[in-house]
Amino acid sequence: MITVKHLRKVYQNDGKELVVLKDVNCEIQKGEIISIIGPSGTGKSTFLRCINRLEEPTSGEIIIDGENIFDPDANLPRIRQKMGMVFQNFNLFNHLTIMENLMVGPMKLLKMSKANAEKQGLELLQMVGLADKANAMPSELSGGQKQRVAIARCLSMKPEIILFDEPTSALDPTMVSEVLSVIKQLAKQGMTMAIVTHEMKFARDVSTRIFFMCEGIIYEDDVPNEIFDNPKKPLTKAFINKIRTLEFKISDKRYDLHSMNGQIDTFCRKYSLSDYVVNMLQLILEELLENILPFTGEVVFDINYSEKDNDVIIKCLQKSCKFSILSNPQADELAVKLITGYCESITEDVCDDDARVIIMKLKDKRQR
Ligand SMILES: Nc1ncnc2c1ncn2[C@@H]1O[C@H](COP(=O)(O)OP(=O)(O)OP(=O)(O)O)[C@@H](O)[C@H]1O
Ligand SMILES: [Mg+2]
Repeated sequence: MITVKHLRKVYQNDGKELVVLKDVNCEIQKGEIISIIGPSGTGKSTFLRCINRLEEPTSGEIIIDGENIFDPDANLPRIRQKMGMVFQNFNLFNHLTIMENLMVGPMKLLKMSKANAEKQGLELLQMVGLADKANAMPSELSGGQKQRVAIARCLSMKPEIILFDEPTSALDPTMVSEVLSVIKQLAKQGMTMAIVTHEMKFARDVSTRIFFMCEGIIYEDDVPNEIFDNPKKPLTKAFINKIRTLEFKISDKRYDLHSMNGQIDTFCRKYSLSDYVVNMLQLILEELLENILPFTGEVVFDINYSEKDNDVIIKCLQKSCKFSILSNPQADELAVKLITGYCESITEDVCDDDARVIIMKLKDKRQR
């Protein structure tokens, strides 16, 4: 359905050349769901914008159903109609009602009658669970609701493929799942989609293939289980490892508890870990920081989630410590008992550079 050949995009920034897409090649078949992941600034949005012709590439070809979209004779309105795009910031027409947002495209561009556009609009609103909002203005909706309307509006043009550019990254954590649920429903219906996302659990569940973009190319392209559990190339390995781990360093007792709890929350959400896990992690870290660690030097936390084994492991490294932390009389006995109870295993080891490391594996996985 879509073939991309030697796509290259170079931006001029203050007279300097920035090669964003070096040589992107791929094929996307009808019915495929591609998630595009990769570090920030690697050209994921630029790539989607080129497919949609919002951006002119420097060179290369994009062929959609046999037609090169950069051909001067290409039928641009038809190409655009085939492809819907959903943006991070919804891009609704704020001065129109929800129903008008859904009617304007079909009436103006597909020449649909007003009655049919309205009928279709209602069906689409029902599909995304917002039939009662037809006459509301966008400003009256939550972010998650706006994004569902944006998806409905995109569907109103009867696209053959939908491109999503981080559809949930501007949303409050509580609203992410309602939007992902709509996208999953589209996946079940066989819609072809390319989705730039940071929601790794979602990408694994919904995609037929993952593109890992890096260094201006599709650096690794494989099925989700291979990319997440068995990446082949070094930069994919490093990326997957890094996103699986939340690390933070604390140098003294005046740490920022709220920032730490927020980071734990975001990290867990990325992998759809339950509130129970969030609470456990926050509790264990707080007990360690408040009542157990001697703060002989910097403390480094590593929280790692393995989707394969469904294990959450916390590593807590206390630098410049020459004694056992857990059996030290300074450590609050009750706090140690408490965290031991939350863990399937808890061990303490000496590191070679006079540091102690406590390794804890969370228990009660059923509750996730
Ligand atoms: N119109 C532009 N002019 C100049 N440089 C640009 C333009 N658009 C993007 N860039 C640069 O191109 C690079 C790639 O940007 P792009 O937005 O495609 O990355 P991305 O992978 O989507 O990143 P993120 O994950 O942060 O969204 C960035 O360094 C960005 O600053
Ligand atoms: Mg982007």
